[in-house]
Amino acid sequence: MDFNKLVKERKTTFEFSDKAVSDKDINLILEAGRWSPSCTNTQPWHFIVVKDKERIEKILRTANYGFFHTEPNAIIAVVLITEKCKGPNHSCFRGKDSGVHDSHMSIGMSVYGMSLQAKDLGIDSCIITPEQKEVKKILKVKKEDAVPLFLGLGYENKNTFKRDRTRLELKEITSKETFTNE
Ligand SMILES: Cc1cc2nc3c(=O)[nH]c(=O)nc-3n(C[C@H](O)[C@H](O)[C@H](O)COP(=O)(O)O)c2cc1C
Repeated sequence: MDFNKLVKERKTTFEFSDKAVSDKDINLILEAGRWSPSCTNTQPWHFIVVKDKERIEKILRTANYGFFHTEPNAIIAVVLITEKCKGPNHSCFRGKDSGVHDSHMSIGMSVYGMSLQAKDLGIDSCIITPEQKEVKKILKVKKEDAVPLFLGLGYENKNTFKRDRTRLELKEITSKETFTNE
């Protein structure tokens, strides 16, 4: 698919059908995650593939918000491995705090990459922020680690709930040379 079209067609999906996402496709999606860029190439992630329906339901209930009507067919939960990011505030170690949570950004890169790979395979997705305590309990993730995001995967139920999707105009969010918001 044309890349710009792919970017625009990837969207948060609210209702998924029962159709299963194949293991072959899940592996391709994981490959996109694996090859994502990360701060100093720390690759501070671990990907948990969840297909068990009951576990998916429980994980969905940890969403900070999310008016989901039907659960995705599979979930890839992305664990941030604290051991791999030794800097303050989960930053990459550079001897000083950059003030930027670059490990979390790396997790975001992997999730976005996987969501685009999914869309390229015709698979719909949703990116969700889970409540930490609960999701870590369900996924048996260590206390010191985090699950900043998970990606729900499946095929959209057609003719069901859809949210209006809009974006600010390019001229509202760009400037030349230095910052201006006029
Ligand atoms: C880092 C991040 C966290 C998000 N967390 C949630 C969430 O917890 N619940 C939810 O319903 N949507 C969540 N979303 C989805 C956004 O609300 C959605 O991407 C945004 O409204 C734009 O809509 P679109 O994905 O259809 O383009 C998250 C998206 C990102 C990038």
